[in-house]
Amino acid sequence: MKRRFGILTGILAAGIGALACATAFAEDDAPVTPDGTPAYIVKDGQVDKGTYNGYRRFHATCHVCHGFDASGSSFAPSLADSLKRLSYDDFKEVVVNGRQNQGATGDKVMPSFGLDPNIMNNLDDIYRYLKARADGALPGGRPQRIGG
Ligand code: HEC
Repeated sequence: MKRRFGILTGILAAGIGALACATAFAEDDAPVTPDGTPAYIVKDGQVDKGTYNGYRRFHATCHVCHGFDASGSSFAPSLADSLKRLSYDDFKEVVVNGRQNQGATGDKVMPSFGLDPNIMNNLDDIYRYLKARADGALPGGRPQRIGG
């Protein structure tokens, strides 16, 4: 009897997990993976609202150094490459605290945005956009938003 109950709760838990997962990915505004990491949706070349917002925010501030489409410049690395290896937490850490290149000249500075609400309030969306670029899911240029 006890054992059967265990199997039943197991099935129930799996069911709830699948449901939560489906809900997370059906959300077109600000999708997340089951573990809570910001995710993106690209459907027929169109993106969720969060990713679209991230595109706009990136090109309002970060592109000055990191280049259009996050493809990099002589001054700062291509974030479309960086996000192939940086985790979400790594990404947040650098943007919040900034970073100073300790190389030969040490003149390349990533500013700290931890006190900038325009960036902090949109950090997840900027990550969504950059991750979509890093995964090759999104070509360069202005994406279309799902639902207009
Ligand atoms: C003033 C120029 C400048 C601006 C603006 C800027 N960055 Fe940077 N960023 C840099 C430089 C330079 C580096 C490399 C620093 C180093 O490695 O020492 C860097 C590094 C990074 C890294 C780490 C990359 C890696 O490969 O480890 C991330 C992530 C990042 N920037 C995100 C952002 C985001 C997001 C924004 C916009 C909110 C932004 N940056 C705006 C100059 C800038």
